[in-house]
Amino acid sequence: MESGKQLTGTLALAVFTAVLGSLQYGYSLGVINAPQKVIERHYSRALGVLPQNVTRDGNVTEEVPHSSIVMYWSLSVAIFSIGGVVSSFLVGFVGDLKGRVKGMLAVNVLAIGAGLLMGLANVGRPHIMVISGRALMGFYCGLSSGLVPMYIGEISPLAYRGGLGTLHQLAIVTGILISQVIGLEVLLGNDAWWPVLLGLSGAPAVLQSLLLPLCPESPRYLYIKLGKEEEARKCLKRFRGEYDPSKDMAEMKREKEEAMKEAKVSIMMLLRSATYRHQLFVALMMHLSQQFSGVNAIFYYSTDIFHKAGVTEPVYATIGVGAINTIFTMVSVVLVDRAGRRTLTLIGLAGMCCCTVLMSIGLVYLTTYPRMSYVSMTAIFLFVCFFEIGPGPIPWFIVAELFSQGPRPAAIALAGCCNWISNFIIGMGFPYVEALCKSYVFIIFAVLLFGFTVFTYCRVPETKGKTFEEIAAEFQHRRRPPRPAAAATSELQQLKSASDV
Ligand code: GLC
Repeated sequence: MESGKQLTGTLALAVFTAVLGSLQYGYSLGVINAPQKVIERHYSRALGVLPQNVTRDGNVTEEVPHSSIVMYWSLSVAIFSIGGVVSSFLVGFVGDLKGRVKGMLAVNVLAIGAGLLMGLANVGRPHIMVISGRALMGFYCGLSSGLVPMYIGEISPLAYRGGLGTLHQLAIVTGILISQVIGLEVLLGNDAWWPVLLGLSGAPAVLQSLLLPLCPESPRYLYIKLGKEEEARKCLKRFRGEYDPSKDMAEMKREKEEAMKEAKVSIMMLLRSATYRHQLFVALMMHLSQQFSGVNAIFYYSTDIFHKAGVTEPVYATIGVGAINTIFTMVSVVLVDRAGRRTLTLIGLAGMCCCTVLMSIGLVYLTTYPRMSYVSMTAIFLFVCFFEIGPGPIPWFIVAELFSQGPRPAAIALAGCCNWISNFIIGMGFPYVEALCKSYVFIIFAVLLFGFTVFTYCRVPETKGKTFEEIAAEFQHRRRPPRPAAAATSELQQLKSASDV
């Protein structure tokens, strides 16, 4: 059997178990949209404030929530990202402390606690319960959105690293879709069941906690970080079946030797280091391009956008977007190890750029030509397809590929933090920018997407089928002008002595 190429039951179980964390992330992203009006009404009752246009004698005009409800609602939505921004810094620490598996297990306490707070929202004051639950859930998701790709990247055989890495995104989009469907008013998005709808976001953590003890630890963590060669060999065999692990062990040995030279790199060291500057720039730009492509403007506000684009049943169109999103992520799972990360990212970004231009044309001419609603709608669907074949899934796992074991946890933490902050900026800022630019708002994303496409073309290397060592070598090659060996060595020594203190 060819070395390290098999997909075994244990590997499948480990990947499935890990991505339950991603499912939870997607569910939490999507769940808050549909039941907004219902939850706002509960907040109003608990706070004793009436919606502004409802008069006390019962003459109901259009329901406009009271300003304090708007504030509590915005906080319920946004606090999730704030929790994520804060905790994403801790990914490296949690992953390195007791290992990837125990790290994922420990943080489940947060998710279950968050689920309980939201599920019992009606027992206490609903706005307080929901806001604290969302904050805790965001904190959990910031950690899991780093730990999951890190674990999968480290346990996957080279030939399947991209496909398995994309499963993180597939689970996210599946979570979004599930929340959109069960959030419909006829299911759980109603007056009686909304706490259950929110509380269910903690459910995957229960299943994951039961399965994680069956998953082997990352061999790279065991060998490179802890020096436990025998245990690493055993875990490799559990992941790959009966095969000769000497080639994989030799590769890890070389990486360990490199890691010994480079020492553990903290976030501050990584930010200051010239050695990793190019890798870090690429990693952060890929996360920025994922978020500033405007995809979450579509996800958070699609119902409203469809409404403006003249669609009669916007809620169902939104679910349609969720479904297309899931299908095209599956396409990416199949393609990513064949076509390559760089190619798919390029096609995706360029395609999205064209779609935003089309969307803008559709929105601008809608009043003159009503049929333009079809143009906008098609453009939105295509935009999501292009996003999912490359710019959506690839940034999540490519960071683990771009960095060797020493700086990997710090790099994942920084990239995750950058992702969460930009997600927050789009989530909060889009409505204001839209109010300012009206139908032209997507032109801004078109310009950004054009810039990201050019950047990817010029600066992002292909990582498909390369070992971590080969990828690192590629960056050393690209660094211009070549740094004198003495300068590089002295920087590494400085990093090492700083980390020894
Ligand atoms: C990616 C993004 C996330 C977005 C999702 C949409 O996972 O990180 O912000 O909502 O894709 O599919």
